Amino acid sequence: MESESIALSRQREIYMAGLRGKKMSIPFTYDALVEAAREVMSDPAWAYVMGAAGAEKTMHTNTAAFDSWKILPRVLRDVGSRDISTSYAGKSFNTPFFICPVGSLGLVHAKADLAAARAAARLGIPFMSSNQSSISMEDLSQGMGTGPKMFQLYWSNSDELVSSFIQRAEQANFDALVVTVDNTLLGWRSRDLQSAYLPYLHGHGLAHYTSDPVFRQLVEETRDKPSATGGVNLKVISALIQMAYRHPGSTWANLRSGISLKSARKFVDVFMKPSLSWSDIRQLRDMTQLPIVVKGIQHPEDAALAVDAGVNTIMVSNHGGRQVDGGISSLDALVGVMDAVGGKVDVLFDSGIRSGMDAFKALALGAKAVGIGRPFVLALALAGEQGVRDLLLNYVAEFELTMGLSGCSTVQEITMDFLKRI
Ligand SMILES: Cc1cc2nc3c(=O)[nH]c(=O)nc-3n(C[C@H](O)[C@H](O)[C@H](O)COP(=O)(O)O)c2cc1C
Repeated sequence: MESESIALSRQREIYMAGLRGKKMSIPFTYDALVEAAREVMSDPAWAYVMGAAGAEKTMHTNTAAFDSWKILPRVLRDVGSRDISTSYAGKSFNTPFFICPVGSLGLVHAKADLAAARAAARLGIPFMSSNQSSISMEDLSQGMGTGPKMFQLYWSNSDELVSSFIQRAEQANFDALVVTVDNTLLGWRSRDLQSAYLPYLHGHGLAHYTSDPVFRQLVEETRDKPSATGGVNLKVISALIQMAYRHPGSTWANLRSGISLKSARKFVDVFMKPSLSWSDIRQLRDMTQLPIVVKGIQHPEDAALAVDAGVNTIMVSNHGGRQVDGGISSLDALVGVMDAVGGKVDVLFDSGIRSGMDAFKALALGAKAVGIGRPFVLALALAGEQGVRDLLLNYVAEFELTMGLSGCSTVQEITMDFLKRI
């Protein structure tokens, strides 16, 4: 008996809507999505989302790597029932997808993180809340209900702030802690440098900070009276107003007190900890009961060190090529990491996923689930929550069909045997 599947109901929904003359909120291919989103996104938002480090070679290598692996399908293997569920970080999930942590989403859509998180929650797809969120973790968690959620941490140089974020994530019912380790310094992002635009300095993506008691105390303790740098002109005034608007409280009061500017400055002071090392990760194991996912692993030896440090899950990622230019593709890194880990912990993957077919390839190389990054941001920019929902359903449907048409009934059956490197 044919089981009811997301793929079949999605196809039916789309073709039936077509009969009524209704089109989907977003285009189906990644290239068309990019083209459509460019029309609605501001120049700085476009640069921030689509840009990467240096000459952007790592970013291109990430997607090119998927083309070097081809699927070798099997037939007549009774795929009448298809189970696309997977498990990692101590939980089961109904699809092998999650939403990657992406900061400053307020740049692309007014409802930002909440819209994307709700779309994911309604489908039971995990949402990783970026450290640079536009909404506090408590409000986000409430808005998501029981939907699976993970908190992504950038390790600050204030230990108290790190502890506070972790405790808040636990209290707000996040299911896991994702610690990103490839961003201890901000990459050389050519397009952002060209537009001289850093979202945080315009008040984007600071909600976890401005809602945090430890951070507020740090801001309070800052003595200097903030003043705009290099004189005041219309651009500076506009930036100050935007910053004040995005800060909790009344825009006017924020402007008068200078709290929003002080907060942005303090954020820049505390944001990163370049001295972060494996001993911090080992310490993290004692700081929380939550499963720990370490995000940003490429080297097999780092994967082995992560296992030794007691993490539950490794995420192979190169931040979508935004940190080190001229690097290997994240997909190639996955192969090395799988060997080094030897099944001791679960491995997740991101950086280059552009379709359900890509997900099949990454799972065949060993990943338990894959993260959707830029594509969901473009869908959000185009059509908010509905856009993200459509994108997720399309990816899940295409994945399920690729799996079935390749001869697999469960994600566990998807192995290297179904791939050929050409
Ligand atoms: C605009 C943008 C912002 C991002 N912000 C974060 C972040 O706040 N935290 C984080 O761990 N990763 C962040 N990432 C990296 C993503 O989580 C993910 O690793 C990356 O998007 C995967 O590459 P892809 O989108 O090309 O597939 C960001 C990526 C983009 C494109």
